[in-house]
Amino acid sequence: MCGIVGAIAQRNITPVLIDGLKRLEYRGYDSAGIAVVDAEQALDLRRSVGRVASLEQICDGVEGHLGVAHTRWATHGRPAEHNAHPHTSSFQVAVVHNGIIENHHELREAQKQQGFVFSSETDTEVIVHQIDWHMQQGKNLLAAVQATVGELKGAYGLGVVSKQETDVLIAARSGSPLLVGLGENENFIASDMSALIPVAKKYMVLEDGDIARVTTDKVEIFDANGQAVQRDIRISTLSDDEIELGGYAHYMKKEIHEQTRAITETLEGRLGADSVLELPFGDEARDIFDAAKQIKIIACGTSFYAASVARYWFEEFGIRCDVEIASEYRYRKHVVDPGTLFVTISQSGETLDTMAALDMAKGLGYTNTLCICNVAESSLVRASDLTIFTHAGREIGVASTKAFTTQLVVLLMLAICLRRRRVGDGQTIDDMEREIVQELRSLPQQIENVLDLENDIIAMAKHFTHKHHALFLGRGAHFPIAMEGALKLKEISYIHAEAYAAGELKHGPLALIDEDMPVVAVAPNNELLEKLKSNLEEVRARGGKLFVFADQHSGLTSDEEAMVLEVAPVNNYIAPILYVVPLQLLSYHVALNKGTDIDKPRNLAKSVTVE
Ligand code: G6P
Repeated sequence: MCGIVGAIAQRNITPVLIDGLKRLEYRGYDSAGIAVVDAEQALDLRRSVGRVASLEQICDGVEGHLGVAHTRWATHGRPAEHNAHPHTSSFQVAVVHNGIIENHHELREAQKQQGFVFSSETDTEVIVHQIDWHMQQGKNLLAAVQATVGELKGAYGLGVVSKQETDVLIAARSGSPLLVGLGENENFIASDMSALIPVAKKYMVLEDGDIARVTTDKVEIFDANGQAVQRDIRISTLSDDEIELGGYAHYMKKEIHEQTRAITETLEGRLGADSVLELPFGDEARDIFDAAKQIKIIACGTSFYAASVARYWFEEFGIRCDVEIASEYRYRKHVVDPGTLFVTISQSGETLDTMAALDMAKGLGYTNTLCICNVAESSLVRASDLTIFTHAGREIGVASTKAFTTQLVVLLMLAICLRRRRVGDGQTIDDMEREIVQELRSLPQQIENVLDLENDIIAMAKHFTHKHHALFLGRGAHFPIAMEGALKLKEISYIHAEAYAAGELKHGPLALIDEDMPVVAVAPNNELLEKLKSNLEEVRARGGKLFVFADQHSGLTSDEEAMVLEVAPVNNYIAPILYVVPLQLLSYHVALNKGTDIDKPRNLAKSVTVE
């Protein structure tokens, strides 16, 4: 989603801004722009639709010591050059903005009366005119931004420069992440520290309501009341190694193959000889787990499907578990049972709906809040009582893969910790826990074996290239795996894909079955296998083509109507984590055949920081 970079230095900052934008590309965007205060103290504005590389081509000769830049993901106004950020007010002030201003209609009408002329359909443009107006009333840039944000309703991360104050960069945040990167006689702002990897290791995270006045050698931060405040200086652990493609054609492919390592690292230090250890989850973990009588999990997208798989585990272990999409949860009334642990799951830790759901939950009487997250420096982590990290490493492909499987690993460990309290005294390790722990240990190797199926999956993918629809089937904990498989296919290949619990076939989707509707199924060898086989027969009887990932001992074999790829036997609890991997590979190879932009699928964003 939208990205912000800003810089103030003694050197020309245009290359820093362009490089920063490139580093934010993974978040998803449709246009980009840059505004630099040049040697004549004029604002040089360049914007373009499409990739940052196109913007770079029109930035020849743009030079200056102060500037802001942006990647835009359209919300108000279509992707077009005039809607791209930065926006200026008669080239006096330039603003880049992440978030949504809800009262932009009112402000726009008032500003038109004052004589301001609008050149975009964005909500952002009102911000820049408002700052300009306050400066016209005699305020300096900082005071003008302070006055302006007091008049805004909605969410914003802002970077602001003015040609009247060429030694100041202003940043402001409310509801949209923003940080200040600290260099040597130069400073930066960014919506995500990854934009600043080559130029800053130290940084400060702005809190909601903060406004920062940044010069080359000083950073002053004022809170929502205008009081000067200090924010902790943190050290970034991000490095360029994580963003190298390392010989892979796409980040998604790299990340699918990294799952063995990501899972190994997620398990690292958290398993004893035959048990899940609690201490590594943090000092507060034991008390929080003791107090959890049931759990509520909130998430979006792929993280929601991880939650949906985990629900089967929790309830199998006797722990009541409700799962809900964040954007639905936050707009309805709730009855909270005493002893409910509120869990959020998020790869990025910045998804706005998930953040808002957590904010809301805090006032509703949940016992504690726990987040499962992949990004240590994220907003969700800061706002939660306890975090269990998925050590997936940086995930860049918009379609989530290694974040999903590591979320599942963490959720299974959490379920085991809570189960111990349900079936015993909270300390004693039983045979079931021993078995699951051994299986978790062998999971990376089992994933490696599934990755070896890639050539067969490439052959399978050819059958999908010219299809417009696909149906995914699963039962039990593999129903959400089917949903995740369908999501992957639609996200990156643009093939309409739907998932159904296989038992629901007769209640509708069977009507769709014909030879143009490939049906993908996951068939592990569990107590539902025979039921699933009957469902697959229903498809076959209607001329449907089956593509099945099945346990070696399932009895399912390939024939004219079915292509069956065999997966080695696996423990039932671990199986969902394993069976999603071939679905990821299938989507990847279908998309590759179709020639889509796999890592940055159209219209999608990696980190959804608007509602
Ligand atoms: C976007 C991404 C998905 C992700 C979802 C939730 O839609 O494209 O890959 O699953 O957001 O993101 P989160 O960071 O909260 O897990």
